[in-house]
Amino acid sequence: MNENLIIPTHVGIIVDGNGRWAQMRGLSRSEGHKAGLFRLKEICIYAKELGIKYLSLYVFSTENFKREKKEVQYLMNLFVNLYNDEFQELINNGIKVIFSGRKNPLPRKVLDAMDKIVENSADNSEMVVNFCLNYGGQTELLDMTKKIVQQVVDGKKKIDDITLDTIQENLYQKLPMLDYVIRTGGELRLSNFMLYQASYAEFYFPKIYFPDFKKNDFYYAIVEFNKRNRRFGGNAS
Ligand code: IPE
Ligand code: IPE
Ligand code: MG
Repeated sequence: MNENLIIPTHVGIIVDGNGRWAQMRGLSRSEGHKAGLFRLKEICIYAKELGIKYLSLYVFSTENFKREKKEVQYLMNLFVNLYNDEFQELINNGIKVIFSGRKNPLPRKVLDAMDKIVENSADNSEMVVNFCLNYGGQTELLDMTKKIVQQVVDGKKKIDDITLDTIQENLYQKLPMLDYVIRTGGELRLSNFMLYQASYAEFYFPKIYFPDFKKNDFYYAIVEFNKRNRRFGGNAS
């Protein structure tokens, strides 16, 4: 590892390309999801080794419920398996697991597995992994707006006291803004991922399907981040 690399504090990964990875091999889409979600474990642990403090992983969007029932069901069962068993290794690595998204209409068994891993990893402090599951950026902004309006209606907040900090505090999780968003699979879009948090993020779109996204590719992505000149609206340095 290059000691001089700047490591982004909050990295988001849009986990995409599982279906095409499987199709290319003559496998079912389910096989692709299995391969992709198992790859996630390796990527999480490597992120911790790199010194990343927050990793947000987009694994299921609110819109993904539009997919065939069979595919959705397969994914739900896979999540149960990962959070109940497979991701125990994340906990052993000092990783704290949290979730962003709406609970409804996730099945009870998925919610239980999510609660379990959150509880079992709550005292960990090496890195935070935020799974965006049944997550939509637009829905998050809608839910945030409703929470703040409710505080005003209840007399707990004055309109003039609403600031950008109020927005950040009322999103699903209190996280720093994203520094870097990586979308595997080659598509050049956000697909409703962390719209507010990505305001000043750098973007990287490797043409690699997620099940093939290895540690080396992640390292290369961080090298690419180091070539960017972030300005936040100021002058070029
Ligand atoms: C991303 O892979 C995983 C989820 C959305 C759950 P896709 O299933 O979108 O794979 P492609 O984009 O069809 O290849
Ligand atoms: C975005 O991927 C959502 C996740 C990776 C979880 P999609 O495959 O659902 O996005 P579109 O449909 O190509 O925009
Ligand atoms: Mg896709």
